[in-house]
Amino acid sequence: MPGTGRTRDGRGGGAVDRVDAALAAHPRAGFLPADQRRYALRDHPLPIGHGQTSSQPSTVARMLRMLDVPPGARVLDVGSGSGWTTALLAHLVGPTGSVLGVELEPGLAAWGAANLAATGQGWARIVLARPDGLGMPEEGPYDRILVSAEARELPTALVDQLGPAGRMVAPVAAGLSVVRRTPGGVTITRHEGYRFVPLR
Ligand SMILES: C[S@@+](CC[C@H](N)C(=O)[O-])C[C@H]1O[C@@H](n2cnc3c(N)ncnc32)[C@H](O)[C@@H]1O
Repeated sequence: MPGTGRTRDGRGGGAVDRVDAALAAHPRAGFLPADQRRYALRDHPLPIGHGQTSSQPSTVARMLRMLDVPPGARVLDVGSGSGWTTALLAHLVGPTGSVLGVELEPGLAAWGAANLAATGQGWARIVLARPDGLGMPEEGPYDRILVSAEARELPTALVDQLGPAGRMVAPVAAGLSVVRRTPGGVTITRHEGYRFVPLR
């Protein structure tokens, strides 16, 4: 799996920031209900129905930078909601990679899949999450896992789905945990002060 390299400010990808390019290619407005689209550029969460939200754009950008997604990676997107993060991840991995979005709410899974399909990135898909466990272990392991709903404790079932040198960014107990798999186990870095809808 090729690496991305990092610029001096910690933003991945070299001269042109790859996360900014993904955000420009897939604007949030395409992943919002019609009555919310006028607010797409506001930097706060917005309702997407079923009691769920489109996350704050600056937080999404920060999480994607922490995840440091290389082209060609196999990625799991837990809580794909509107399909926005799945589309952004698909842009980052490119056609040599793959992205699997899983969403627990059936109405959102169908709507998110339609939003994603409109981006024409056939190497990404969204399926209904299984009710009896986190993620999709039978399709793993994954190089990267993004989680967009908050757990009370580190979701070890998802850590187990990380491949060698894999990385996961997950909201845990009012902060973001960045989990890196190493030959000796895992390392965890914390960034406090982030709230999300609950992981169920
Ligand atoms: C912040 S919202 C949506 C964010 C989404 N990534 C987007 O771009 O719109 C988080 C989503 O996680 C979903 N969710 C919660 N627990 C889940 C679980 N165990 N498996 C899959 N999805 C889950 C919720 O239904 C919700 O749609």
